[in-house]
Amino acid sequence: MPQKVNVLGKTFELYIPESKIHEAIDRLAEQLNRDLKGKDVIFISILNGSFIFAADLYRRITVPSIITFVKLASYQGTSTTGKVKRLIGINEDIQNMTVVVLEDIIDTGVTMEYILKQLRGYEPKEIFITTMFFKKEAFVKDFPIHYVGLEIPNKFIVGYGLDYDGYGRNLKDIYVLSE
Ligand code: IMP
Ligand code: MG
Repeated sequence: MPQKVNVLGKTFELYIPESKIHEAIDRLAEQLNRDLKGKDVIFISILNGSFIFAADLYRRITVPSIITFVKLASYQGTSTTGKVKRLIGINEDIQNMTVVVLEDIIDTGVTMEYILKQLRGYEPKEIFITTMFFKKEAFVKDFPIHYVGLEIPNKFIVGYGLDYDGYGRNLKDIYVLSE
């Protein structure tokens, strides 16, 4: 794997090798397979970022379950509400189900709070949050994050599904912006 990559004119350095990511996913899968036993489970993967994480994690899940993919769509609300983000793509009836949200990264937590609020409207039995990466120092919310792959410092990363302006998602390893 290259030590440095260029994404849209910026230099990024190798930060977390794919092997470390896969070890973390093995641990997550073990915890989830244990905790979700006997539950009626739907995994909800948040596009675009989490598609690679979801594919790797879900193939390690052994409990009977379904998976779906949703997206946060931005649209202009009324002048009082400003920019609104709406969750699109839930066609399944998730009422009374155990929802496991799959996210690539939680930074401030603002995005996940939107998602949580909207998911609660579907009246699931319970919601568990799973994120591959968590910037603990940047998190400003107070909801619990139940399953974390790897905690990282407050730095900008790309690769493994995460992008810089749309690019870099296809990098197998995680790279960090050079200072
Ligand atoms: P939050 O709302 O601050 O938690 O930010 C979450 C969203 O910002 C994620 O879903 C990502 O799309 C994006 N994001 C946050 N940190 C990074 C990063 O280091 N690299 C790439 N995208 C990031
Ligand atoms: Mg995202």
